[in-house]
Amino acid sequence: MRIFNDYYNNQVKLSFSDHPFDQDPKHVWVICRYRSKWLLTKHLERGLEFPGGKVERNESANEAAIREVSEETGGEIESIYYIGQYFVTGRYDQLAKNIYFANIKTIKKHSTYMETAGPVLLDELPDNIRTNELFSFIMKDDVLTYSLQFIKANSLIA
Ligand code: GTP
Repeated sequence: MRIFNDYYNNQVKLSFSDHPFDQDPKHVWVICRYRSKWLLTKHLERGLEFPGGKVERNESANEAAIREVSEETGGEIESIYYIGQYFVTGRYDQLAKNIYFANIKTIKKHSTYMETAGPVLLDELPDNIRTNELFSFIMKDDVLTYSLQFIKANSLIA
């Protein structure tokens, strides 16, 4: 398990084992690839980030992951893999979030993208994400770094 602080100095615990913190987490985050590019969304307040959000009532975390990718980017899933989970301890609350990696087969145009401006494709993730104001705080800690390492080490990229 890795333990570090996030952009807001909250403690994050991260593990790539099977649901180490919560069997039934209420949050999901999906690292997406589409045709050799990274597929992100532009959150209207937070900026560029991989899609994700809250699990709804009567929905599994996996179902939420697929729905959030569609709602925030228009992306339709080719394959999706659970890769790990993290646990954030904030000042007032705490949350567990599943991390997925998804290969996207098509991007459908939607009329709205929930609280985002829709899909953004990047050839590369820049080296300066942590200081780049275009990017969301959820991209600015070691969750992204270690998740990308895991995805590469396990040859998940199609
Ligand atoms: P809503 O308006 O209901 O979406 O509330 P919210 O966005 O404040 O709630 P949420 O439960 O998503 O997040 C609560 C707090 O947890 C946020 O303010 C962050 O501090 C933290 N948090 C949520 N998601 C992440 C994440 O992916 N990474 C990190 N480091 N912190 C997160």
